[in-house]
Amino acid sequence: MRVHMNTAGSGIIHDSTHEIMKNYLFSEFKIGSYETELKYESILNSEVYNNCAQLMNCDPENVALFTSATDAWVSIIRMLRVKEKSEIWISDSEYAANVIYFSFLSNKYNLKLRRIPSISNFTIDLEWMRNNLSDNVSIVSITHMPSCCGIINPIEEIGELLKNKDIAYIVDACQSIGQLPIDVKKIQCDLLTGASRKFISGPRGVGFAFVSKKLSSKLSYDFFDLHVGYTDNFNKCLTVNTAKSFERSERSLVSICGFNNALKIRINDSDYNNENFVFFLEELKKIKSIKILFPDSYIQGIAAFQFKNCSASDGVKKLRDQGINLWEGTAQHTPFLSPHILHSKFVRASFDKNLSIHDIEIALNAIRKI
Ligand SMILES: Cc1ncc(COP(=O)(O)O)c(C=O)c1O
Repeated sequence: MRVHMNTAGSGIIHDSTHEIMKNYLFSEFKIGSYETELKYESILNSEVYNNCAQLMNCDPENVALFTSATDAWVSIIRMLRVKEKSEIWISDSEYAANVIYFSFLSNKYNLKLRRIPSISNFTIDLEWMRNNLSDNVSIVSITHMPSCCGIINPIEEIGELLKNKDIAYIVDACQSIGQLPIDVKKIQCDLLTGASRKFISGPRGVGFAFVSKKLSSKLSYDFFDLHVGYTDNFNKCLTVNTAKSFERSERSLVSICGFNNALKIRINDSDYNNENFVFFLEELKKIKSIKILFPDSYIQGIAAFQFKNCSASDGVKKLRDQGINLWEGTAQHTPFLSPHILHSKFVRASFDKNLSIHDIEIALNAIRKI
C-alpha cells in the first residue's frame, strides 16, 4: 500500500466510492448507460445537489456540476458583464488559469487588473482592501488556498468588506473545500468553485459551483443545453431556472455517482481537525537537508519544500519508487505568490486528516534519507 501525500493533486477514493462506481459501470455494461441513468435518477438529479449544497451550506438550486473546477469557474465568469475600464482585484494566491482568463477579459474591456497586496504571512492585506475599495471595482477574485501550499486567505472577512457592494465576489475553493469548513452564507460570495477529486476525495472529472441568486440575475446567457431548454422556430426556451441551466447535458454519470458518495462521507464527519498534518510539518521543519517554503505562514494540509542536495524531481522520483506519493510542484501555477521561485521546482506534500501517523513516519524517514 502506498503512502499518499498528493491529495492536492487528487485524493484516494474511499473503498465504498470505488464499489459504487464499479457497480454503476457494470450496470452501464449490462443494461445500457441511458437505462442505468434512469435507475440512478434520484442520485444524479437530486441527491448529489443536496449533498453538495450541504457541504457549502446553500440551497441545492444554487449548485451546478461541471467537468473540473476550471470548467466551473470559467463557465460562469465568462457570462459576467463587466463595466469597461473597471478594476478586477485578485489575490496573490490566485490560480494561474484564473489569471489567464482575467488577462483576456482585461484586454477585451480595457480593464485594470490589480493584485491585492499580501501581508508578511502571504495572506491578503485586508487593510489595503478597506482603504482602496471604490465603485470602480467590478470583480474581487480570491483563491482561498493556493495550489502550492496550505496558506489560508480570510474569505469570510473579505465577504464582510464587500457585502452590499456592487462587486462580484468570487472564491476559488478548489484546494480548501473538503479540508476546511466552507459556508457560503458566512463567506457571502457570489461564486465559489471546487473539484471532486482533491480534499473531498471523489473521482476525477467533476467540478462544481455555488452560484448566488444575485450573480445569476446579472449573467448574460449565451447558451443553454437541451436538458433545460429547447428551440422552437428559432425561438429559444429555457425551462429550468436553477444553476443546472449552466451545466451541459452530457456528464460523466459514473463520476457524479462516485462524487455523491464522497460528499456523503465528508458531510457525515464534522471533524475538520488535521492534527497529523501539524505533526508532519513540525517534523519536516527539523530536517536539516530541506528548506521549507513559506515557513512563517499558518499552513494547513499542503506543505512545500526543497531538498538542499537534490532536485525536486529526483527527490520525488526516489520517494515514489519507495511507494511514497509526493508531487513535483511548479510555482507557475501560483505565479504571484512565489515569483522568487517561479522557474524552480519544489516538492509538495499534501494529505487530509485520515493519513495515519504510521504512514507519516514512513514518509518522514524516507525524506530524511534523501
Ligand atoms: C487553487 C486551484 N484552483 C483551481 C484549480 C483547477 O482545478 P481543475 O484542474 O479541476 O480545473 C486547481 C487545481 O489544482 C487549484 O489548485
